[in-house]
Amino acid sequence: APILEPDLEHCCITDDVPPKGVIEAQVYCCPPKSSSPPIDFKLPKGTPLRVRPPAQFVTDEYLEKYKLALKRMRELPSDDPRSFKQQADIHCAYCDGGYKQLGFPVELDFKVHFSWIFFPFHRWYLYFYERILGSLIDDPTFALPYWNWDNPDGGMVLPSIFADEDSPLYDPRRNPDITPTTLVDLNYGSGKEPSVEQNLGVMYTSVVSGAKRASLFHGKPFLAGKQPELGGGTVELGPHTAVHRWTGDPRQPNKEDMGRFYSAGRDPAFYSHHANVDRMWNIWKTIPSGKRRDFKNRDWLETSFFFYDENKTLVRVKVKDSLDTNKMGYVYQDVAIPWLEKKP
Ligand code: C2O
Repeated sequence: APILEPDLEHCCITDDVPPKGVIEAQVYCCPPKSSSPPIDFKLPKGTPLRVRPPAQFVTDEYLEKYKLALKRMRELPSDDPRSFKQQADIHCAYCDGGYKQLGFPVELDFKVHFSWIFFPFHRWYLYFYERILGSLIDDPTFALPYWNWDNPDGGMVLPSIFADEDSPLYDPRRNPDITPTTLVDLNYGSGKEPSVEQNLGVMYTSVVSGAKRASLFHGKPFLAGKQPELGGGTVELGPHTAVHRWTGDPRQPNKEDMGRFYSAGRDPAFYSHHANVDRMWNIWKTIPSGKRRDFKNRDWLETSFFFYDENKTLVRVKVKDSLDTNKMGYVYQDVAIPWLEKKP
């Protein structure tokens, strides 16, 4: 059976207890309670399309808007579900055992990594984050920038918009050795010297040659009543995890912020990182050869999540409404995809 939305009555302290030194004595990341019952999500009709730009090519005008939106989000009271703190904590609650499965004994966690709900969950997460930012600046076309780490044309570095220490987009808990000219390492942890060629090879294997079926790309099923985290897909385990660990701060006990689930959402770069991960789902479906189709399985399509929207309303969303970003109201600005055609 599909996983239903998490049991909000049983959100508890996360089990992501830092093993190496305690940085947060307790990581409590449950959302504020909703004053009204949740509503069911409906795909938007007739709203303007949001076009997510590659972060390395954004205009100054765009950047000012984004900074203003994030500044306002950071200024909201910390118990406002739209606040940056609450938005960051979504990742913590959903990723570290903060949530339990509705209708099952509390030992059964609702976790969103290392299974077939990885892509849909993160897509919904960004969807609401983007809408909240847009509403804070009254711009229904506001779209998140994506960290284009698969593109050697200016993308394979930390986007410079995140490196300005005086910007709301900055996070001090990042690897201090990374500058906007340091080549990203999509094979982080392999012990090999990073290179553009290697990065392109990682992209090719995780989206093309190694992901010929949904179960390889998305990961293993996660069903109600079962333990989570049975197996992640190629992008999740590959470039996705590499960029998290590459960006995290080695001076922190657990490579916070990006290097750990409970803290990753505290770095604004997280949302641009995940926008590119999300973009890979769209690209994967355009590859003609092989069986690159999303699952048709009802247990996947009916899996549900809860998010607060830009009006602080609790919304129940399902995987089945996340399969087409056009229908959700956003697309990715096109850039070259040099690894797509043939093995680099
Ligand atoms: Cu929820 Cu990049 O992880």
